[in-house]
Amino acid sequence: MSPSAEASSLQIRDVGVSFDGVRALDGVTFSVDAGGVTAVIGPNGAGKTTLLNCVSGLYRHTGDVVLGGASLSGLAPHRRARRGLARTFQTPALVDELPVVDNVMLGAAAMARPEPERRLRERALELIARLGADAVRDQPAGSLSHGDRRRAEIARALLPGPALLLLDEPAAGLDHDEAMGLLTAVLEICGTCVLVEHDVELVMKLARHVVVLDTGRVLAEGPPTLVVRDQKVIDAYLGQEIPG
Ligand SMILES: Nc1ncnc2c1ncn2[C@@H]1O[C@H](COP(=O)(O)OP(=O)(O)O)[C@@H](O)[C@H]1O
Ligand SMILES: [Mg+2]
Repeated sequence: MSPSAEASSLQIRDVGVSFDGVRALDGVTFSVDAGGVTAVIGPNGAGKTTLLNCVSGLYRHTGDVVLGGASLSGLAPHRRARRGLARTFQTPALVDELPVVDNVMLGAAAMARPEPERRLRERALELIARLGADAVRDQPAGSLSHGDRRRAEIARALLPGPALLLLDEPAAGLDHDEAMGLLTAVLEICGTCVLVEHDVELVMKLARHVVVLDTGRVLAEGPPTLVVRDQKVIDAYLGQEIPG
């Protein structure tokens, strides 16, 4: 059961947040259409993770976040998850003592309706296999390689069948082919993703829309091929134009 297209659209409207008087996000506004990858790129400290923290409800902020036409403002993270929002973290957080399959089953906490344990286990095993982590499914998460930790964390986020998945630098520590394989599999499972990513080559291949953040503001947005040729984006982030 995949969520309807409308349920997967996200609007970020005039989102702002400050830490000790420092404006980390200021008037951030953009839309994520259902279907495909919207990438969020920008220099370190631009506010990318902060934005995901606002969308997922970890940070209080001004402005509004709307998923599938309904405002998420004021909702705690677990309520947003039950509305169909899933996320992963820049550093995967797993229960190290538990086997991978049990870690993935913890994703059930975000389900709007509980399902029998047997069904959850079947679904967890299917996701683990599709993300290429079959060989480690019974191993404790603490013993995993970086790539397999990443796979386990993403499988857990996918378990509830989210309408939209927020990924914070999922390719960090993976080689290009590994990251492409993993993200392609993720997209086949959850059709709408917001991808915070440093690897611009990966973004060029996967994203249909790119939003560039710089010092907490949207510097530019548009199709990847146009955004990487934007002089403002080259000056603030890319340093030089990306060929292709
Ligand atoms: N919880 C917090 N407390 C104080 N400052 C924060 C907090 N979270 C983020 N920031 C600040 O907000 C800015 C944006 O950080 P972040 O969103 O992590 O950037 P990015 O993910 O783009 O590298 C940085 O200046 C960072 O120090
Ligand atoms: Mg970050």
